[in-house]
Amino acid sequence: MNSGFECITPLPGATFGGVVRLPAATGARAFIEAAEADPDALPRAQAASHGLLLVQGMEDMAEEPELLVRLSRIFGREVENYRHTLTAPNMVHETVPEIFIVSNTPPVSRQPPKRPEPPLTEDGALPTRFPHRRGWHTDQSYRRPPPDISLFLGVVPVPRGQGQTMFADGTAAYDALPAALKARVDTLEGLHVSSSAKRTRDARLAGETPRPLGAHEQPQRQPVARVHPVTGKRALYLCEFGQMDWLEGPFVGMTPGPHGDGADLLFTLMSHLTRPEFIYVHEWTRGDLVIWDNRCLVHAATWFDADNEARIMWRTTVSGNPGAAYAGERKSWIPA
Ligand SMILES: [Fe+2]
Repeated sequence: MNSGFECITPLPGATFGGVVRLPAATGARAFIEAAEADPDALPRAQAASHGLLLVQGMEDMAEEPELLVRLSRIFGREVENYRHTLTAPNMVHETVPEIFIVSNTPPVSRQPPKRPEPPLTEDGALPTRFPHRRGWHTDQSYRRPPPDISLFLGVVPVPRGQGQTMFADGTAAYDALPAALKARVDTLEGLHVSSSAKRTRDARLAGETPRPLGAHEQPQRQPVARVHPVTGKRALYLCEFGQMDWLEGPFVGMTPGPHGDGADLLFTLMSHLTRPEFIYVHEWTRGDLVIWDNRCLVHAATWFDADNEARIMWRTTVSGNPGAAYAGERKSWIPA
């Protein structure tokens, strides 16, 4: 990198991702000013790192939240304003509506995911692989066009060993598929829907009645092998129990529901995508900022002790370059 940034790849313990630093300066403001002076530098580093960047020492952003929005603009032309997208107001930052708050503290009061069962693997390690590890998804895949990049700031993270964020490298996982499976997914589409639609696998197994959906909540088709608009590489693009449509999907043109051949294929693909060699687990430190590309990575949150720990994380979402497959589409999630 010639902008003054240094990108150390891969991330510790992983085969992808990178840590971006500005050796000559510290603090969020200096970092953002350098990014704005060479706006291609960070997106270029991200594309070269299979979509995952870690920036450390960004704790000043908690005092100046606009800095997070400024940095987000480097990654795409549209930073979501959550006041315009039917988001519950208690989850949106009071003065900076581009910031979505993930927290177990009021007024958000969102509980962490459950612990896996059993909580550790046979080797005593943190479970990462589906289906032992659940909750793998890519942000807002129930929208067309879906978003490009998420930025996630650890304002008040919980101690190491809990509340991690896991990432799986969809590009490497696609490349490693057996040829026959690759050919199969190349033309396949997944059917994605918000968990609020009650079309999750658990809801179908429990026999819950799906609620009628408005035009702006309909399940959306997405390519399973998604072509990245910047790198031109294909990546596995899919979610699992909570963000696929288990009523008519999970895949278009396959037997639907939790017992169909679509379900079998989803288990095969998710279990492949979350093999240990494709995983990075981020243990949070205050001021860490993780920037991920939703077009080629999936991620999952882990349990933390919400009775004894307070966790506050800020997220922004950037869109505007979903790729040629979405050219000219209106936003599916905004009521007409
Ligand atoms: Fe997410």
